[in-house]
Amino acid sequence: MKDIKEDLSKIPKAIYFDKEDRFFILDQTKLPVEEVIEEQISLEQVYDSIYQLKVRGAPAIGIAGAYGLVISLKEHLDKDMQSFKDIVIKNAKYLNSSRPTAVNLSWALKRLMAISKEFANDKTPKELYSALRDEAIAIHQSDIETCRAIGEHGSSLIKEGDGVLTLCNAGALATGGIGTALAPMYVAWSRGKRFKAYSSETRPLLQGARITCWELNKFGVDTTLIADSVASYLMKLGKVDMIIVGADRVANNGDTANKIGTSSLSVNAKHYGIPLYIACPFSTIDTQTKRGDDIVVEERGANELIYIKDRQIAPKDIKVFNPAFDVTDHSLIAGFITERGIIKPPYDFSKTI
Ligand code: MRU
Repeated sequence: MKDIKEDLSKIPKAIYFDKEDRFFILDQTKLPVEEVIEEQISLEQVYDSIYQLKVRGAPAIGIAGAYGLVISLKEHLDKDMQSFKDIVIKNAKYLNSSRPTAVNLSWALKRLMAISKEFANDKTPKELYSALRDEAIAIHQSDIETCRAIGEHGSSLIKEGDGVLTLCNAGALATGGIGTALAPMYVAWSRGKRFKAYSSETRPLLQGARITCWELNKFGVDTTLIADSVASYLMKLGKVDMIIVGADRVANNGDTANKIGTSSLSVNAKHYGIPLYIACPFSTIDTQTKRGDDIVVEERGANELIYIKDRQIAPKDIKVFNPAFDVTDHSLIAGFITERGIIKPPYDFSKTI
């Protein structure tokens, strides 16, 4: 019998870190037309890759931030220990400012900064560099296991013949492993369950159309692309049994920041009695943030709406409001699919963590 691991290994990867400490990403802005792997060689390049969404998705930017910090330190190994530690903090803060909403970025960088802070001053920068590299690898490795566990728990929700709607991309390319929202689909499909996936295109940057459809297609999941405006009608037609999306930051009370459009899916889902699940690792849960109103939502540039690639589709001087994320109220969330199992309301994560 075919092993499930064999199936899951077909899923593409967003991030690579090799034995010579070289860091590569798959440039997701070029998908699905070109598959370009780009080496990351400087702090500024990693910042830009995160800002431009070459690497994206909450867990993936956490991992990329950690590796980005590590490679940025290579040129400073001859410094004295205090100067080296100062550079660790400076570079981590700079990378952390690339995108504000996904908590995984600051979570990963804080882990590296804590190691640096505690590291004995009588050791060498080279030894600290090795410890930071090992921590970045550990963050990446544990995300692979976390995604797999999310997939195992979430797959129990999917029944033969179901319609499962997702938004944006919370798949392999948004993580170090098989994804969060797509992980239950991959595991269920590998086990022979046949269902229909619907991928909402996700204007303006089209992560659903370009990335989720590409990933699910590669794996062979029966996938249908819809325009974002179709979602409510699809629910009315009875084609959606559940919605599974990812998260960028979950507040302590369960309010969840995720890709813009998630909140309107949740309101429609409530109207049609369809459960909406958030699939996310515990590293995305921010108990320091009490409620959704306290989450900083990234606003992006006007050109993402005025142009599609190089083609202008709106007047250049039009006013634009372009938030990258929105916040879904906890009352509209049926459960959180995590590596530790499915968490049902009422939510108070400070009691769970
Ligand atoms: O702007 P993006 O593409 O980084 O947004 C990604 C999302 O909103 C994902 O749903 C979220 O980060 C979860 S990824 C597992």
